[in-house]
Amino acid sequence: MKKQWWHNKVAYQIYPKSFCDSNGDGIGDLRGIIGKLDYLKRLGVDIVWISPIYSSPFVDQGYDISDYYNIDPLFGNMEEMEELLEEAKKRNISILMDLVVNHCSNQHEWFKKAMADPDGPYGDYFYIREGKENGEPPCNWRSYFGGSVWEKVPGTKNKYYLHMFAKEQPDLNWENPDVRREIYKMMNWWLDKGLAGFRIDAIINIKKDLTFSDYPADRDDGMCSAHHMLEHANGVLEFLQEMNRETFAKHDAFSIAELFNYDPCALEAYIGEHGCFSSIFDFSTEMLGGSEKGWFDLKAIDPNLYRDTIFESQAKCEGIGYMANIIENHDEPRGVSRYLPKEGQTTEGKKMLGMLMFMRKGLPFLYQGQELGMENTVFSDISQIDDISTKDEYQVALNAGCSQAEALRACTFRSRDNARTPFQWSDGENAGFTTGKPWLPVNPNYKTINAKDQIGRKDSVFSFYQELIRLRKNPEYEDVVVYGKMVPVFEDMDNVFAFYRVTDKKKLLVLANYQNEPVSLNLKEIPTRVLINNYEDLELKNNTITLKGFQGVVVE
Ligand code: GLC
Ligand code: CA
Repeated sequence: MKKQWWHNKVAYQIYPKSFCDSNGDGIGDLRGIIGKLDYLKRLGVDIVWISPIYSSPFVDQGYDISDYYNIDPLFGNMEEMEELLEEAKKRNISILMDLVVNHCSNQHEWFKKAMADPDGPYGDYFYIREGKENGEPPCNWRSYFGGSVWEKVPGTKNKYYLHMFAKEQPDLNWENPDVRREIYKMMNWWLDKGLAGFRIDAIINIKKDLTFSDYPADRDDGMCSAHHMLEHANGVLEFLQEMNRETFAKHDAFSIAELFNYDPCALEAYIGEHGCFSSIFDFSTEMLGGSEKGWFDLKAIDPNLYRDTIFESQAKCEGIGYMANIIENHDEPRGVSRYLPKEGQTTEGKKMLGMLMFMRKGLPFLYQGQELGMENTVFSDISQIDDISTKDEYQVALNAGCSQAEALRACTFRSRDNARTPFQWSDGENAGFTTGKPWLPVNPNYKTINAKDQIGRKDSVFSFYQELIRLRKNPEYEDVVVYGKMVPVFEDMDNVFAFYRVTDKKKLLVLANYQNEPVSLNLKEIPTRVLINNYEDLELKNNTITLKGFQGVVVE
């Protein structure tokens, strides 16, 4: 694999609304981010992705963009954005913005013009189709946020426009070369400003099955999940290769895609040496426990399954490309609440999970608060939920016969709002996030889980993440941590997650005991050095190592 400048880096996602509020309106902002760059530097972060900060009506928290060339006043203005780029540069931090171009907002001027004149040039910026003769929508696809993907064009007899997500997020017609040209122009404009690249949203959806035909229903509503469309849509790579040629390649930009439901045979075309993206997120574990029926039907994730899924995913991309590893993001519950069994949701368990993420091959991509071990929050009523997706899933659960209490339990566990509660800076009022009223309530556990308490405290989760980052950047180990081949070991032992990282020169062994009971392991060689340990001590006699519950170590 050809080495790239970003391979040895550490990346971090900021969810701007919830990171740091500088002016007391309860909403995080650019000035807040600028003020925390030194915090990120101290942690050891090199690349920062900021979720959307463009003008938006916030139907889907900024993933509905009404003007790609402006900063939403909630977050600040263009001067502050430029200041952020400058201040980040001084600290050798690269900034990525979110690229949301499968759809825009229904408040975007293109869409307003399209609605005013569906047969005019802007009508062709979107997918506008005639409904069926009986007045039903053109086909039976269900949008990702519930309901039909089709919405009536106001004032027409039987015309509909397509939206894979909310009805306020109309899909852009990528078949139209004018649309593609506009998008590339906008991307280059940002890259010229000094942006290092983009995180690319929901990108597999840009290619449609243009027959727009019905598929077999998968729920009682007679509809079929829109993602089935992807199996019938061919040619997404042509768009993406063009996008790469016209934008990223010209700037040597970093591009990382949110890519679900892709054809695994195409991995090389996506992230190989001549791929259309630098990298993609490895979502293999995020997919675990899911159900076509909805969130209410989620299954618990067994440690063995978690481990095997990661091994499989690593094997798939070995020698092809470099994926980014995560345990959570703004669309997922908190990783420590999801992947650790209840008894493992401790400081040690959280460190072990972080170690497994950092020590496997790929770009470690942290989500804000992960470095503190932030957890899922508590909801006592559906009215406390902001997330559009959780509201839909709550309804799906009720429709399927769940009681309100069951629906609430299932949906709040999976809710995207878990990751969106304000960052816990201190044990002060509102966790130090704002002097006003936070837009989403702070997780009540901020008194015990917060940055102020953890920075500089040797045994904190934060310090442990710093240690993991230092190991990745230690010249003696960098090569093996960044490029070493990942070789599974002790795979037939339940709840033991272990692997080697190997180069010609070095060999590390990563061992995690993913359970409460201690476990003894017989090693082939006697370790020469302990590099990482989430406990103070380690029981090592000759070549037998005994790990306590949720103990994780890296030895040479
Ligand atoms: C992506 C984003 C998510 C958003 C969706 C629609 O999945 O990560 O937050 O709701 O796309 O833009
Ligand atoms: Ca603010």
